[in-house]
Amino acid sequence: MISVVVPTYNEAENISELVERLDRALAGRDYEVVVVDDGSPDGTAEVARSLSGRYPVRVLVREGRRGLSSAVVEGARLAAGEVIVVMDADLQHPPELVPKLVEAAERGCLAVASRYVKGGAVEGWPWHRRLVSRGAVLLARILLPEARGVKDAVSGFFAYRRDCIANIKPTGLYKILLDVLVQCKPKCVVEIPYVFGLRTRGRSKLGTRHILDYLKQILALARWRPFKFAAVGASGVGVAFAVLYLTSSLPTPLSVALAIETSLTSNYLLNRRWTFAERRTPLLVGWAKYHVATAVGNAVNYATTLALHLLGVWVYAAYAAGVAAGYVANYIFSEVVVFK
Ligand code: GDD
Ligand code: MN
Repeated sequence: MISVVVPTYNEAENISELVERLDRALAGRDYEVVVVDDGSPDGTAEVARSLSGRYPVRVLVREGRRGLSSAVVEGARLAAGEVIVVMDADLQHPPELVPKLVEAAERGCLAVASRYVKGGAVEGWPWHRRLVSRGAVLLARILLPEARGVKDAVSGFFAYRRDCIANIKPTGLYKILLDVLVQCKPKCVVEIPYVFGLRTRGRSKLGTRHILDYLKQILALARWRPFKFAAVGASGVGVAFAVLYLTSSLPTPLSVALAIETSLTSNYLLNRRWTFAERRTPLLVGWAKYHVATAVGNAVNYATTLALHLLGVWVYAAYAAGVAAGYVANYIFSEVVVFK
C-alpha cells in the first residue's frame, strides 16, 4: 500500500485535479491519499471529503495552522502505507512522477523529486527567487553533512518509509526533507528530475518571513555548530592576547606568529572535543589538516595584524581586526574539509 500525504491550506481549487491525476498515475495499485488540512477557510477539507466516495481519500483536519512539516508527520502517523509519498496539493509537484518515486522508495532508498539534477527545472521564477532557493540549498549542504550529496535537499516532493516519516520531530515549519535526511540518515538517496511549474490556482504560503524559520531550522539541525565554532574562536582570541602579552619583549612579527600558533592549537582541540565531537577526528592528522584549513585565514590575520601595527594601531586591536578578517574562511574550511 502506498500512502500519499498531502498537506493543504486553502487548496480547494486544486485538490480535485490532484486526486484525479494521482488516481490515473497509480491506476491498478493499492493506494490512499491522506489530506492534512489546517482548517482552511476556503473549504479544502469539505472538497476533499466529497472526493472520498469515488477515490481512496482520507481527510485529517487540524485545528489552527501549524505548518507543513508537522502536518506531514501527523499524516504519516495516520497513513496505512509502508511507503509514504509527500507532495503539495497545488500541482506544482506533478502527480505523474509518483510511480517513479515509489519504485525507488520500495527499494529502500529515499526518493527525492529534484529541480536541480539534470532534466529538472523551475519554471518562470525571477532571478532573485532562484538565487534565494540556490542559496538555501547551498547553506544546507555546507552545514549538514547529511544533505551534502543531495542537490535539492529542500524539495517538498519525496517518498520514503513510513516508519521514518512518522517519527520525525520537525525542527522547522516547512523543510521536512531536511529533517528526514538528518534524523533518519537514509542509506541511499535517489534524485528524480522534475519541472517545478508555476502555480495556476490559489496562492503560495511561503514568503520572506519563512527565511528566518529556515535559518533557525538549519542551525538546529547543525546542532548550533556555527555558534560553538564562534565561541571557540572567541576563546582563541583570549589565548592569543595572553601570548601577545607574555611575549611582548620579542619582535612583533615573532610574537604575533606565536599567538596565532598557540590559539590555533587551542581552537583545534576545543573544536575537536566540542563543536565536532561526534565526528571522531584523529588527533594529529586533524591538527595538521587544521593548519592547512586555517592557513588562508591565518595568513590574512597575520598580514592584517602586522600591517595595522605598522600603521600605528595598538597590537591587540590590530590582532582583533586580523581575526575578524580570517573567520569566515576558516569556518567553511572546517565544515567541508577538516571535520568531514
Ligand atoms: N497543513 C498545512 N499547513 N499545509 C500547508 C501549510 C500549513 O501551514 N502551509 C502550506 N501548506 C500546503 C499548501 O497548501 C501546499 O499544498 C503545500 O503545503 C506547499 O505550500 P506552497 O505555499 O505551495 O509552497 P511553495 O510552492 O512555495 O513551496 C513548496 O515547494 C517547494 C519545492 O518543492 C514547498 O513544498 C517547499 O517546502 C518546497 O521547497
Ligand atoms: Mn506551491
